[in-house]
Amino acid sequence: MKSQKDILKSIEGLSDIMENGKLILDACCGSRMFWFDKHNPLALFVDKRSEIVTAKDRDKIRTIEIKPDIIADFTHLPFEDNSFYMVVFDPPHLKTLGTTSWMAKKYGKLPKDWQLLIHDGFTECMRVLKPNGTLIFKWNESEIKAAEVLSVIPFKPLFGHTTGRQSKTIWMCFMKLSINE
Ligand SMILES: C[S@@+](CC[C@H](N)C(=O)[O-])C[C@H]1O[C@@H](n2cnc3c(N)ncnc32)[C@H](O)[C@@H]1O
Repeated sequence: MKSQKDILKSIEGLSDIMENGKLILDACCGSRMFWFDKHNPLALFVDKRSEIVTAKDRDKIRTIEIKPDIIADFTHLPFEDNSFYMVVFDPPHLKTLGTTSWMAKKYGKLPKDWQLLIHDGFTECMRVLKPNGTLIFKWNESEIKAAEVLSVIPFKPLFGHTTGRQSKTIWMCFMKLSINE
C-alpha cells in the first residue's frame, strides 16, 4: 500500500515543489493537537522546546510530547523570505498562569510584554510566507480579546470564526498580499 507521502508525491507537480522543502510551516506546533495527521509530510513543525511534559490537570496526571522537527523561536525563524505556501500560527494566549500548571506546560505562557512577542512572531511568519500565501492564526480570548491582539498585528484578517463550547477560540485567515506590505 502507498504511504500518504508517496500518494502526495505522485500528484502532478507536487513533487517538484516538495523537493524544495515543505509547503506548510507550523510555527509553534506544541503537541500538534489540532492536526488530523500529526506527521503530515507537507508540514514542517517548529517549536521553541522539545520535551515530554507531565502535570496534574484537575484530578488526572497528564503527559504530552512536544517534538518539533526544528527547535526555533518564531520571532527569528531560520528560513528565507517567501519560503512557505501556508503558515499556521497558534502562539500562547494566556498570561496569568503558574509556570508549573498543566495549561502553561501544554500551551506555554505569554510574557508581560506579550504585545511585542505577538507582533514580532506574526511579522516573522508573514516574512517566511510566499506572496499570496495563507496564514492561519488561532487565538483564544479567555484573557485577551481578539480586538486587542489584532491591534498589535500589522495585518488585517480576511475572515474568521469562533469555536469551542463558549466560542472563546477564534480561527482567522490572513493572506500575504502586496497591499499588506
Ligand atoms: C498554544 S500552543 C500550540 C498548540 C498546538 N497548535 C497544538 O495543536 O497542540 C503554543 C506553543 O507555542 C510555543 N512557543 C511559545 N513561544 C514560542 C516562540 N517564541 N517560538 C516558538 N514557539 C513558541 C510553546 O512552546 C507552545 O508549544
